Amino acid sequence: MTTSLTITKPDDWHLHLRDGAMLEGIIASSSRHFHRAIIMPNLVPPVVTTAEAVSYRERILAAKPRADFFNPLMTLYLTENTDPADVAAGFADGLVTAVKLYPAGATTNSASGVKDITKVYPVLEKMAEIGMPLCVHGEVTDPSVDIFDREAVFIDMVLDPLRKRISGLKVVMEHVTTRQGVDYVLSQEAGLGATITTHHLIINRNAILAGGIRPHYYCLPVAKREEHRLALRSAATSGDRRFFLGTDSAPHSDPNKETACGCAGIFTAPNTLSCLAHVFEEEGALDRLEAFTSLNGPAFYGLQPNEEKITLVKRAEPVACPSKVHTGDGDVTVFDPMFPLYWDVQ
Ligand code: NCD
Ligand code: ZN
Repeated sequence: MTTSLTITKPDDWHLHLRDGAMLEGIIASSSRHFHRAIIMPNLVPPVVTTAEAVSYRERILAAKPRADFFNPLMTLYLTENTDPADVAAGFADGLVTAVKLYPAGATTNSASGVKDITKVYPVLEKMAEIGMPLCVHGEVTDPSVDIFDREAVFIDMVLDPLRKRISGLKVVMEHVTTRQGVDYVLSQEAGLGATITTHHLIINRNAILAGGIRPHYYCLPVAKREEHRLALRSAATSGDRRFFLGTDSAPHSDPNKETACGCAGIFTAPNTLSCLAHVFEEEGALDRLEAFTSLNGPAFYGLQPNEEKITLVKRAEPVACPSKVHTGDGDVTVFDPMFPLYWDVQ
Protein backbone atom coordinates (compact mmCIF):
# COMPACT_ATOMS: atom_id res chain seq x y z
CA MET A 1 0.00 0.00 0.00
CA THR A 2 1.31 3.46 -0.92
CA THR A 3 1.59 5.63 2.17
CA SER A 4 3.67 8.50 0.86
CA LEU A 5 3.71 10.32 -2.45
CA THR A 6 6.07 13.11 -3.50
CA ILE A 7 4.91 15.22 -6.44
CA THR A 8 5.72 18.49 -8.13
CA LYS A 9 4.07 21.29 -6.14
CA PRO A 10 0.54 21.83 -7.49
CA ASP A 11 -1.00 24.89 -9.13
CA ASP A 12 -4.67 25.87 -9.00
CA TRP A 13 -5.89 26.89 -12.47
CA HIS A 14 -9.17 28.42 -11.24
CA LEU A 15 -9.39 30.13 -7.88
CA HIS A 16 -11.53 32.81 -6.20
CA LEU A 17 -9.60 34.76 -3.57
CA ARG A 18 -12.03 37.70 -3.12
CA ASP A 19 -10.72 40.92 -1.54
CA GLY A 20 -10.38 42.72 1.79
CA ALA A 21 -11.13 40.79 4.98
CA MET A 22 -12.25 37.66 3.10
CA LEU A 23 -8.99 37.58 1.10
CA GLU A 24 -6.99 37.99 4.29
CA GLY A 25 -8.91 35.19 5.97
CA ILE A 26 -8.67 32.58 3.20
CA ILE A 27 -5.46 33.23 1.23
CA ALA A 28 -3.34 30.95 3.44
CA SER A 29 -5.60 28.00 2.57
CA SER A 30 -4.28 28.25 -1.00
CA SER A 31 -0.78 29.65 -0.56
CA ARG A 32 0.05 26.81 1.85
CA HIS A 33 -0.21 24.10 -0.82
CA PHE A 34 -0.25 25.79 -4.21
CA HIS A 35 2.62 27.50 -5.98
CA ARG A 36 0.61 29.43 -8.56
CA ALA A 37 -3.07 30.05 -9.20
CA ILE A 38 -5.19 31.56 -11.92
CA ILE A 39 -7.09 34.26 -10.03
CA MET A 40 -10.69 34.84 -11.01
CA PRO A 41 -11.58 38.49 -11.64
CA ASN A 42 -15.23 38.48 -10.49
CA LEU A 43 -14.83 41.00 -7.71
CA VAL A 44 -17.40 43.75 -7.20
CA PRO A 45 -16.64 45.75 -9.31
CA PRO A 46 -14.85 43.25 -11.56
CA VAL A 47 -11.15 43.34 -12.50
CA VAL A 48 -11.43 44.67 -16.02
CA THR A 49 -8.19 46.42 -16.92
CA THR A 50 -4.53 45.49 -16.63
CA ALA A 51 -4.02 48.31 -14.10
CA GLU A 52 -6.79 46.87 -11.91
CA ALA A 53 -5.27 43.38 -12.16
CA VAL A 54 -1.87 44.72 -11.12
CA SER A 55 -3.29 46.41 -8.05
CA TYR A 56 -5.39 43.36 -7.13
CA ARG A 57 -2.26 41.21 -7.40
CA GLU A 58 -0.47 43.54 -4.99
CA ARG A 59 -3.32 43.19 -2.49
CA ILE A 60 -3.11 39.40 -2.76
CA LEU A 61 0.64 39.39 -2.18
CA ALA A 62 0.26 41.77 0.78
CA ALA A 63 -2.37 39.47 2.34
CA LYS A 64 -0.52 36.16 2.01
CA PRO A 65 1.61 34.79 4.84
CA ARG A 66 5.18 36.06 4.41
CA ALA A 67 6.69 32.60 4.56
CA ASP A 68 4.61 31.23 1.67
CA PHE A 69 5.74 31.53 -1.91
CA PHE A 70 2.67 32.18 -4.02
CA ASN A 71 2.43 33.51 -7.54
CA PRO A 72 -1.04 34.81 -8.47
CA LEU A 73 -1.56 34.67 -12.24
CA MET A 74 -4.05 37.38 -13.04
CA THR A 75 -7.05 37.33 -15.36
CA LEU A 76 -9.15 40.09 -16.83
CA TYR A 77 -12.92 40.03 -16.74
CA LEU A 78 -14.13 40.29 -20.33
CA THR A 79 -16.79 42.94 -20.95
CA GLU A 80 -18.24 44.28 -24.16
CA ASN A 81 -16.05 47.37 -23.61
CA THR A 82 -12.74 45.55 -23.06
CA ASP A 83 -9.92 47.20 -24.99
CA PRO A 84 -7.91 44.70 -27.09
CA ALA A 85 -4.81 46.91 -26.79
CA ASP A 86 -4.91 46.89 -22.98
CA VAL A 87 -5.30 43.10 -22.93
CA ALA A 88 -2.43 42.61 -25.38
CA ALA A 89 -0.12 44.99 -23.50
CA GLY A 90 -0.89 43.32 -20.15
CA PHE A 91 -0.13 39.92 -21.63
CA ALA A 92 3.07 41.07 -23.34
CA ASP A 93 4.30 42.58 -20.07
CA GLY A 94 3.53 39.36 -18.17
CA LEU A 95 1.02 41.20 -15.94
CA VAL A 96 -2.02 39.18 -16.99
CA THR A 97 -2.16 35.54 -18.01
CA ALA A 98 -5.66 35.01 -19.37
CA VAL A 99 -9.05 36.60 -19.99
CA LYS A 100 -12.24 35.26 -18.40
CA LEU A 101 -15.52 35.09 -20.29
CA TYR A 102 -18.65 35.10 -18.14
CA PRO A 103 -21.91 35.08 -20.04
CA ALA A 104 -23.83 37.93 -18.34
CA GLY A 105 -25.79 36.59 -15.37
CA ALA A 106 -24.33 33.06 -15.48
CA THR A 107 -22.92 33.04 -11.96
CA THR A 108 -21.79 35.01 -8.89
CA ASN A 109 -20.87 38.62 -9.80
CA SER A 110 -21.27 38.15 -13.55
CA ALA A 111 -23.67 41.01 -14.25
CA SER A 112 -21.00 42.88 -16.26
CA GLY A 113 -20.32 39.84 -18.43
CA VAL A 114 -20.89 39.38 -22.13
CA LYS A 115 -24.43 39.54 -23.54
CA ASP A 116 -23.57 39.64 -27.25
CA ILE A 117 -20.51 37.56 -28.08
CA THR A 118 -20.01 39.30 -31.43
CA LYS A 119 -19.11 42.48 -29.48
CA VAL A 120 -15.97 40.84 -28.09
CA TYR A 121 -14.68 39.34 -31.35
CA PRO A 122 -11.96 42.03 -31.69
CA VAL A 123 -10.55 41.12 -28.26
CA LEU A 124 -10.72 37.39 -29.01
CA GLU A 125 -9.08 37.82 -32.40
CA LYS A 126 -6.24 39.73 -30.76
CA MET A 127 -5.87 36.99 -28.12
CA ALA A 128 -5.72 34.29 -30.80
CA GLU A 129 -3.00 36.27 -32.55
CA ILE A 130 -0.83 36.61 -29.42
CA GLY A 131 -1.56 33.14 -27.97
CA MET A 132 -3.38 34.36 -24.87
CA PRO A 133 -5.81 31.84 -23.32
CA LEU A 134 -9.52 32.50 -22.82
CA CYS A 135 -11.05 30.94 -19.70
CA VAL A 136 -14.72 30.26 -20.28
CA HIS A 137 -17.60 29.88 -17.86
CA GLY A 138 -19.48 27.50 -20.13
CA GLU A 139 -23.16 27.88 -19.35
CA VAL A 140 -25.91 29.56 -21.34
CA THR A 141 -28.05 31.98 -19.37
CA ASP A 142 -31.29 31.56 -21.34
CA PRO A 143 -33.91 31.08 -18.60
CA SER A 144 -35.79 28.63 -20.83
CA VAL A 145 -32.84 26.20 -20.71
CA ASP A 146 -32.91 23.83 -17.73
CA ILE A 147 -30.08 24.58 -15.30
CA PHE A 148 -28.78 21.01 -15.57
CA ASP A 149 -28.52 21.36 -19.38
CA ARG A 150 -26.86 24.76 -19.55
CA GLU A 151 -23.32 23.47 -20.04
CA ALA A 152 -24.20 21.01 -22.79
CA VAL A 153 -26.25 23.64 -24.63
CA PHE A 154 -23.41 26.18 -24.28
CA ILE A 155 -21.00 23.83 -26.02
CA ASP A 156 -23.25 23.44 -29.05
CA MET A 157 -24.65 26.95 -29.24
CA VAL A 158 -21.71 29.12 -28.17
CA LEU A 159 -18.38 27.38 -27.62
CA ASP A 160 -18.04 25.27 -30.71
CA PRO A 161 -19.20 28.06 -33.09
CA LEU A 162 -16.90 30.52 -31.29
CA ARG A 163 -13.85 28.27 -31.62
CA LYS A 164 -14.60 27.74 -35.31
CA ARG A 165 -15.00 31.46 -35.88
CA ILE A 166 -11.84 32.56 -33.96
CA SER A 167 -9.48 29.89 -35.14
CA GLY A 168 -6.33 29.45 -33.10
CA LEU A 169 -7.89 30.81 -29.91
CA LYS A 170 -6.66 28.84 -26.89
CA VAL A 171 -9.65 28.05 -24.69
CA VAL A 172 -10.02 26.55 -21.22
CA MET A 173 -13.47 25.18 -20.47
CA GLU A 174 -13.55 26.01 -16.80
CA HIS A 175 -15.02 23.64 -14.20
CA VAL A 176 -16.39 21.16 -16.70
CA THR A 177 -19.25 19.22 -15.09
CA THR A 178 -20.76 16.96 -17.75
CA ARG A 179 -20.00 13.93 -19.87
CA GLN A 180 -20.75 16.15 -22.89
CA GLY A 181 -18.06 18.59 -21.74
CA VAL A 182 -15.49 15.82 -21.31
CA ASP A 183 -16.39 14.31 -24.69
CA TYR A 184 -16.16 17.67 -26.42
CA VAL A 185 -12.67 18.28 -25.02
CA LEU A 186 -11.59 14.76 -26.02
CA SER A 187 -12.90 15.30 -29.54
CA GLN A 188 -10.62 18.31 -30.12
CA GLU A 189 -7.02 17.86 -31.16
CA ALA A 190 -5.54 21.11 -29.94
CA GLY A 191 -6.28 24.49 -28.40
CA LEU A 192 -8.86 23.27 -25.89
CA GLY A 193 -8.27 22.25 -22.29
CA ALA A 194 -10.56 21.90 -19.29
CA THR A 195 -10.28 22.42 -15.58
CA ILE A 196 -12.06 20.05 -13.22
CA THR A 197 -12.88 20.95 -9.63
CA THR A 198 -12.26 18.77 -6.60
CA HIS A 199 -15.91 18.78 -5.53
CA HIS A 200 -17.30 17.71 -8.91
CA LEU A 201 -15.17 14.55 -8.61
CA ILE A 202 -16.84 13.80 -5.27
CA ILE A 203 -20.47 14.92 -5.26
CA ASN A 204 -23.38 14.53 -7.61
CA ARG A 205 -26.59 16.52 -7.40
CA ASN A 206 -28.01 14.31 -4.67
CA ALA A 207 -25.57 15.95 -2.23
CA ILE A 208 -27.44 19.24 -2.68
CA LEU A 209 -30.99 17.98 -2.73
CA ALA A 210 -31.52 14.53 -1.20
CA GLY A 211 -32.70 14.39 2.43
CA GLY A 212 -32.77 18.17 2.86
CA ILE A 213 -31.34 21.15 1.01
CA ARG A 214 -27.61 21.58 1.61
CA PRO A 215 -26.38 24.99 0.53
CA HIS A 216 -22.70 24.19 1.07
CA TYR A 217 -22.85 21.76 -1.87
CA TYR A 218 -24.39 24.35 -4.19
CA CYS A 219 -22.10 25.86 -6.79
CA LEU A 220 -22.19 26.81 -10.44
CA PRO A 221 -22.08 24.97 -12.69
CA VAL A 222 -24.32 22.92 -10.42
CA ALA A 223 -23.30 19.29 -9.77
CA LYS A 224 -25.02 16.92 -12.19
CA ARG A 225 -26.12 13.25 -12.22
CA GLU A 226 -23.81 10.42 -11.17
CA GLU A 227 -22.96 9.46 -14.79
CA HIS A 228 -21.39 12.90 -15.22
CA ARG A 229 -19.36 12.63 -12.02
CA LEU A 230 -18.02 9.31 -13.29
CA ALA A 231 -17.05 10.86 -16.64
CA LEU A 232 -15.18 13.63 -14.78
CA ARG A 233 -13.38 11.11 -12.59
CA SER A 234 -12.26 9.13 -15.56
CA ALA A 235 -11.04 12.28 -17.37
CA ALA A 236 -9.18 13.66 -14.33
CA THR A 237 -7.49 10.38 -13.46
CA SER A 238 -6.65 9.47 -17.08
CA GLY A 239 -3.49 11.56 -17.18
CA ASP A 240 -4.76 13.15 -20.44
CA ARG A 241 -2.95 16.45 -20.85
CA ARG A 242 -6.13 18.33 -21.70
CA PHE A 243 -7.51 18.01 -18.14
CA PHE A 244 -6.09 19.81 -15.11
CA LEU A 245 -7.03 20.98 -11.64
CA GLY A 246 -8.95 24.21 -11.16
CA THR A 247 -10.48 23.97 -7.71
CA ASP A 248 -12.97 26.82 -8.24
CA SER A 249 -12.62 27.21 -4.49
CA ALA A 250 -15.19 29.98 -3.99
CA PRO A 251 -15.62 31.18 -0.40
CA HIS A 252 -18.82 32.84 0.76
CA SER A 253 -19.59 33.60 4.41
CA ASP A 254 -22.04 31.20 6.06
CA PRO A 255 -24.86 33.78 6.30
CA ASN A 256 -24.58 34.30 2.53
CA LYS A 257 -24.87 30.55 1.91
CA GLU A 258 -27.43 29.61 4.57
CA THR A 259 -30.30 31.82 3.49
CA ALA A 260 -33.42 31.80 1.33
CA CYS A 261 -31.39 32.65 -1.79
CA GLY A 262 -27.88 31.47 -1.08
CA CYS A 263 -24.73 32.22 -3.09
CA ALA A 264 -23.18 29.63 -5.40
CA GLY A 265 -19.69 28.49 -4.49
CA ILE A 266 -17.91 25.73 -2.57
CA PHE A 267 -14.81 26.41 -0.48
CA THR A 268 -12.40 23.53 -1.10
CA ALA A 269 -8.97 25.12 -0.81
CA PRO A 270 -8.11 23.83 2.70
CA ASN A 271 -8.62 20.11 2.00
CA THR A 272 -8.42 19.89 -1.79
CA LEU A 273 -5.19 17.90 -1.95
CA SER A 274 -6.37 15.44 0.73
CA CYS A 275 -9.61 14.94 -1.20
CA LEU A 276 -7.83 14.50 -4.53
CA ALA A 277 -5.37 11.94 -3.18
CA HIS A 278 -8.36 10.01 -1.83
CA VAL A 279 -10.15 10.11 -5.21
CA PHE A 280 -7.07 9.14 -7.21
CA GLU A 281 -6.31 6.29 -4.81
CA GLU A 282 -9.88 5.01 -5.14
CA GLU A 283 -9.45 5.05 -8.91
CA GLY A 284 -6.10 3.25 -8.70
CA ALA A 285 -4.49 6.33 -10.26
CA LEU A 286 -2.20 7.82 -7.60
CA ASP A 287 0.58 7.71 -10.19
CA ARG A 288 -1.43 10.17 -12.32
CA LEU A 289 -2.26 12.67 -9.56
CA GLU A 290 0.81 14.75 -10.37
CA ALA A 291 -0.19 15.11 -14.03
CA PHE A 292 -3.58 16.47 -12.98
CA THR A 293 -2.42 18.81 -10.19
CA SER A 294 1.02 19.90 -11.35
CA LEU A 295 1.98 19.09 -14.96
CA ASN A 296 -0.95 19.35 -17.39
CA GLY A 297 -1.92 22.89 -16.41
CA PRO A 298 1.50 24.49 -16.94
CA ALA A 299 1.86 22.57 -20.22
CA PHE A 300 -1.42 24.02 -21.48
CA TYR A 301 -0.51 27.54 -20.38
CA GLY A 302 2.98 27.23 -21.89
CA LEU A 303 4.72 27.48 -18.49
CA GLN A 304 7.29 25.31 -16.78
CA PRO A 305 6.17 22.98 -14.00
CA ASN A 306 7.22 24.10 -10.53
CA GLU A 307 10.60 22.93 -9.27
CA GLU A 308 9.41 22.56 -5.69
CA LYS A 309 7.91 19.28 -4.48
CA ILE A 310 5.33 18.40 -1.87
CA THR A 311 4.84 15.11 -0.08
CA LEU A 312 1.43 13.61 0.63
CA VAL A 313 1.31 11.12 3.47
CA LYS A 314 -1.40 8.60 4.22
CA ARG A 315 -2.08 8.55 7.96
CA ALA A 316 -3.40 5.62 9.96
CA GLU A 317 -6.10 7.82 11.50
CA PRO A 318 -8.36 10.35 9.76
CA VAL A 319 -6.81 13.79 9.34
CA ALA A 320 -8.47 16.57 11.33
CA CYS A 321 -9.53 19.36 8.98
CA PRO A 322 -11.28 22.39 10.52
CA SER A 323 -14.88 22.56 9.35
CA LYS A 324 -14.77 26.35 9.12
CA VAL A 325 -12.24 29.06 8.41
CA HIS A 326 -12.80 32.26 10.38
CA THR A 327 -12.45 35.52 8.47
CA GLY A 328 -13.15 39.18 9.18
CA ASP A 329 -16.13 38.73 6.85
CA GLY A 330 -17.55 35.84 8.87
CA ASP A 331 -17.03 32.09 9.00
CA VAL A 332 -16.65 30.12 5.79
CA THR A 333 -17.61 26.44 5.77
CA VAL A 334 -14.99 24.10 4.31
CA PHE A 335 -16.12 21.44 1.82
CA ASP A 336 -17.07 18.22 3.61
CA PRO A 337 -16.45 15.26 1.28
CA MET A 338 -18.66 13.07 3.52
CA PHE A 339 -15.92 10.49 4.04
CA PRO A 340 -12.89 10.54 6.32
CA LEU A 341 -9.67 11.83 4.80
CA TYR A 342 -6.43 9.97 5.49
CA TRP A 343 -4.11 11.78 3.09
CA ASP A 344 -2.36 14.84 4.42
CA VAL A 345 0.19 17.27 3.05
CA GLN A 346 3.41 16.86 4.99
C1 NCD B 1 -18.12 31.32 -8.15
C2 NCD B 1 -18.05 32.48 -7.16
O1 NCD B 1 -18.60 32.36 -6.06
O2 NCD B 1 -17.43 33.50 -7.47
N1 NCD B 1 -19.17 30.45 -7.74
C3 NCD B 1 -19.30 29.15 -8.07
O3 NCD B 1 -20.33 28.55 -7.72
N2 NCD B 1 -18.36 28.49 -8.70
C4 NCD B 1 -18.31 31.84 -9.53
C5 NCD B 1 -18.06 30.80 -10.61
O4 NCD B 1 -16.93 30.37 -10.81
O5 NCD B 1 -19.01 30.42 -11.28
ZN1 ZN C 1 -15.18 29.96 -10.38
